[in-house]
Amino acid sequence: MSPAPILPEKIVDIGRRYTSSFSFPYEPCYIHITKIINFELRCTEDDEGGILDLNEILQYGLSNGYPELIRQLEELNLHLHGKTISDSSVYVTLGNTDGVSKVFQLLVEPDIDTVLTEEFSFASSLNSARAKGAKLYPIKVDGQGLVPEDLERVLSTWDEKTQGRKPHLLYTIPCGQNPTGSTQPPERYDAIYRIAQEHDVIIMEDDPYYPLQFANYEPDLEKRKAQLKEARAKLPTAPENAKDDDIQAVAKVFNDYAGVKSYLSRDVDGRVIRIDTFSKVFGPGVRLGWITANSTFIERLLRIGETTTQVPNGLSQSVLASYLSDRHWGIAGFFRWMWGVRLEYQHKRDYFLDNLNEYVPKELVTTVPCGAGMFQWLRVDVTSHPRYRKTLIGNSSDAAINLALDTVGQEPEIAPGLELKSSSKSSEQEYTSNTGELIDELFNHLIEYGKVVVLPAKVFIVEKPGVDQSEDLNFFRATFAGDLENIDAALKAFGDSIQEWFQKG
Ligand SMILES: Cc1ncc(COP(=O)(O)O)c(C=O)c1O
Repeated sequence: MSPAPILPEKIVDIGRRYTSSFSFPYEPCYIHITKIINFELRCTEDDEGGILDLNEILQYGLSNGYPELIRQLEELNLHLHGKTISDSSVYVTLGNTDGVSKVFQLLVEPDIDTVLTEEFSFASSLNSARAKGAKLYPIKVDGQGLVPEDLERVLSTWDEKTQGRKPHLLYTIPCGQNPTGSTQPPERYDAIYRIAQEHDVIIMEDDPYYPLQFANYEPDLEKRKAQLKEARAKLPTAPENAKDDDIQAVAKVFNDYAGVKSYLSRDVDGRVIRIDTFSKVFGPGVRLGWITANSTFIERLLRIGETTTQVPNGLSQSVLASYLSDRHWGIAGFFRWMWGVRLEYQHKRDYFLDNLNEYVPKELVTTVPCGAGMFQWLRVDVTSHPRYRKTLIGNSSDAAINLALDTVGQEPEIAPGLELKSSSKSSEQEYTSNTGELIDELFNHLIEYGKVVVLPAKVFIVEKPGVDQSEDLNFFRATFAGDLENIDAALKAFGDSIQEWFQKG
């Protein structure tokens, strides 16, 4: 008898980007496939269900999207961001990956331009910029996102002789940032927009998580349940027909809940290029999103589209246009849907933080509850590991001084509970540490011992020329987008494994 196969043990992955299937608003749907015998392609006469004619949607179309969908997206924009002074128009994309890539193609002169971005950012976008020949330069982040003072400092001290052309593009994820989960408060948006004006920088606002803005984390379960119930009851009752819905009232509830306002809504110069997607609220497989920008940029993007993606997928566009039409959900109905998806993700965020608090000691791991999106950025206190070493570098005869013990004493600023603090470096370029190696070791230990995957900071870091960033590598990205049982199991395993790793030294 042959031996039973050895099955791989199940690994729980809370590191990878993922979208919960509860946010896919489809019921069984049917496409009648034409029989190959007597092959004849035509739309049925009684094709009442769709909004766009099959003859039209299966044709080559306009590279910027179907006019009806564009009109709907403009209306959606109006209710999400208000009337912006900039002369903005819409370009339909194949999702934000495509949108971001096209904007890099538009604005980056290969091997000349430097793009500014959060010091940790979405790896796919960073690689997209690199592939277009961009150099990247990191701006500091903290628990509230990009730090305006650092942006100001970088721009006003930029030396074109040594650093090349002064940057004119900021790529940023201001809301539910990937990977740090941070959401900027209004003052930061205002300050960063002012700095962009002062230095004539274009802001590329990559904002997939904007619809998923949450209320603050409330650790008390009873209070939280009551708040969630109240939130669920906030929307006015839906009427029988979408066209009778009170879109102003629905949008107001949606927009006021967490109150984050986009760069687009602040834009008075036409310097904001906003990138939106249906991936997080409708399903990534639909591969549709849209760019909102001034019409000069949109016209140029259209030319890029003509030689790359040509036309956004006609079938997907017709599906979305049908949902957004008054014959089905209408724009108000889409707000209602996004509201439901948002509250569901908020519940997952809360559940994740409850479990983190329960299973993972705060002396070892801290976090700032995210205000939007799907990610928690977990800061590991590597400095308290027995093998942590921080070393002075440079020409000093004291080079290789081991500062490990001193550094442990330098960490009191971590607020108890859920606080994020960036590296404790007092002066850049002076120290290096073995944080990266320890985090690599811990990453492997978490997989081998705990069967759990979280993604290490090195995947997301933007290299700063000539600066040792090893001290900044003590983070993992985790997502709460998965099933609740997975979150529970993963955090228990994460907590047990991390304690085991610290204890064994
Ligand atoms: C910041 C950011 N940009 C872009 C994307 C990709 O979005 P899409 O599925 O629309 O291409 C993601 C999603 O994972 C993301 O987190």
